[in-house]
Amino acid sequence: MPTAPTVPWPTDGLSFGGDYSPEQWPREVWHEDVRLMREAGVNLVTVGVFSWALLERSPGVFTFDWLDEVLDLLHENGIAVDLATPTAAPPNWLLTAHPEILPVDATERRERPGGRLGWCAASETFREHALRIVGALAERYGEHPAVRLWHVSNELGGGNARCYCEVSAADFRDWLADRYGDVDAANSAWGTAFWGHTYTSFDEVSPPRGVGGAPNPGLALDFERYSSDALLRHLDAETAVIEQHSAVPVTTNFMVGAGSQVVDYAEWARHVAIPANDHYTLVDDPRREQDLALAGDRMRGMTRDRGSWLLMEHSTGGPSWQQRNRAKDPSELVRNALAHVAHGSDGALFFQWRASTAGAEQFHSAMLPHAGTRTRVWREVLALGRALRALGPVQGSRVEAARVAIVVDEASGWALQSGLKPHRGLRYATEVRAWHRAFHDRQVTTDVVPLDADLDAYDVVVLPTLLIVDDAAAARLAAVVERGATLVVTYLSGVADETARIRSGGYPGAFRQVLGAWSEEFTPLQVGETRTLDDGGVVIDWAESVVVDDAETVLRHTDGPLAGTPAVTRRPVGGGAWYVSVRLPDQSIRRIVDRIVEERGIARTVTAPPGLEAVRRVRDDGSAFLFLLNHTDGDVGLSAAGTDLLDGSVHGPETVVPAGRVRVLREERAS
Ligand code: GAL
Repeated sequence: MPTAPTVPWPTDGLSFGGDYSPEQWPREVWHEDVRLMREAGVNLVTVGVFSWALLERSPGVFTFDWLDEVLDLLHENGIAVDLATPTAAPPNWLLTAHPEILPVDATERRERPGGRLGWCAASETFREHALRIVGALAERYGEHPAVRLWHVSNELGGGNARCYCEVSAADFRDWLADRYGDVDAANSAWGTAFWGHTYTSFDEVSPPRGVGGAPNPGLALDFERYSSDALLRHLDAETAVIEQHSAVPVTTNFMVGAGSQVVDYAEWARHVAIPANDHYTLVDDPRREQDLALAGDRMRGMTRDRGSWLLMEHSTGGPSWQQRNRAKDPSELVRNALAHVAHGSDGALFFQWRASTAGAEQFHSAMLPHAGTRTRVWREVLALGRALRALGPVQGSRVEAARVAIVVDEASGWALQSGLKPHRGLRYATEVRAWHRAFHDRQVTTDVVPLDADLDAYDVVVLPTLLIVDDAAAARLAAVVERGATLVVTYLSGVADETARIRSGGYPGAFRQVLGAWSEEFTPLQVGETRTLDDGGVVIDWAESVVVDDAETVLRHTDGPLAGTPAVTRRPVGGGAWYVSVRLPDQSIRRIVDRIVEERGIARTVTAPPGLEAVRRVRDDGSAFLFLLNHTDGDVGLSAAGTDLLDGSVHGPETVVPAGRVRVLREERAS
């Protein structure tokens, strides 16, 4: 496989640390911080995320001495710095002088100071100020030996993902003019003849605000694309300024997880040297470990050559932004961190190093809790530090090549969840997650890849509710069966083109032919309503009246208005082209996945019950590291052999992974 130029990893071995905010503490505490960081084995901290107001007290007047001191102190102690540009939190002097940079929501209410990311991505006023502080920082620290990574802003889009102000509206019009050339092309793409919305000039176009929840679908989708691009332009602008002064790699922290679809991260990932992610488990998610695995598989799927990415933030315990901020169970901290590593992160960082005593997040957990070091959290932080050091040889290895790809694309999520739809309760992320879960529970590794990914290496390609797809992508996806792969298409896929226009002639438009089946009508189910299938399984939420042209019926409806008609079909071409026209509960999806995995002879990483997660990372020299994570509360025995890097114990041909624990077996394999 061709490899891109290698980006230097910021640390020797895996990275370990978190957001460090010395500006919240007196100097004496800094010395205690570095002492404890060393004790824990911290080797990378993110500094400066929210420090704009302290670095630039008035326009162009900089105060860097405290940051000089912090960087020098960290460097003297062998701790590398991920230096953040502070643009997530514009200073109050800037917001007071220019309240017009604050973002405006769809109801045309302007945000107020006091939060963060309080800026509109289209604001040139903001950009000018932002690039000044970024330039000053990059110039001063671009070659500082402590700085091993640059961190642009923080969670771009978390708070300012969409701005509906007049500046954004004008910028959106320019973006449209670039995309369509002339307004008639936009009229025709969006079908503005409907409701008499024809535009005679781009000047008449507005972001979808104040439209009572019924925007033009094409226009609304373009506004989502524009909004992602507007933030990306800001990321690029900061990156370009940094690169004038520094050769150190640049990243920014994404928010991939728990169904978040803020921006087009697959595109963004191409603009950073090392993609990074923030992942927080949700307390009311009974399968939070699977959401974590999905986030990891997605990060890897969008990383160049499926290489290393970095877990920039997660938590040691309860965050403070959920309703009931559950603490992590004993050993969950280590298990969560190592799960990210298993899925391709070359490190585990937290928000944050030391628990804040003041400010909005004063109750958020941290590596060093309010109670100090005589705590379980601190002991687990030390244990994680030891584990990550022991796993040093894993750095730079890759997750073993997956044979299954799940294709995701933000446009489908945006389109499915906006405007008038046959079923407004459907969530794109839910369907993606359900299919991922079935493979995950069977210990089959999946790459969760963008729509334009190279699919040649996969034996199974799954398209969960891929509503929006252009002709070229549809043809590429359909072609996977011609070379013998299996294609699984679920309901509502291929229904609309890239302009959100419905493809006529029967659903699922773009995939009708390859599937040899199509449907004439959607028949969404009501709350609590279920239908039965001929294998005893049920249908929830969604069904369609399917007509088979050239496919076998795998599952049939046995009751309701669709009794006797196909629900799941398979065209016997290549490895099989499946159409799943219904929304299925987990156990039914699992039955389909089990059949496909067996038919295709896809080896499980290990054979174990669900809840025992297994991922293998490999190096080109043939070394292999088998991560076994037991998320259950009972010990799990399975066939696996090797030396556990975490405690030196030797296993094989059987091993037991104790409840809640992790083993990382270095396997002996021929190179
Ligand atoms: C992240 C953010 C951090 C902190 C954290 C709390 O979204 O980047 O600054 O707020 O959440 O969980």
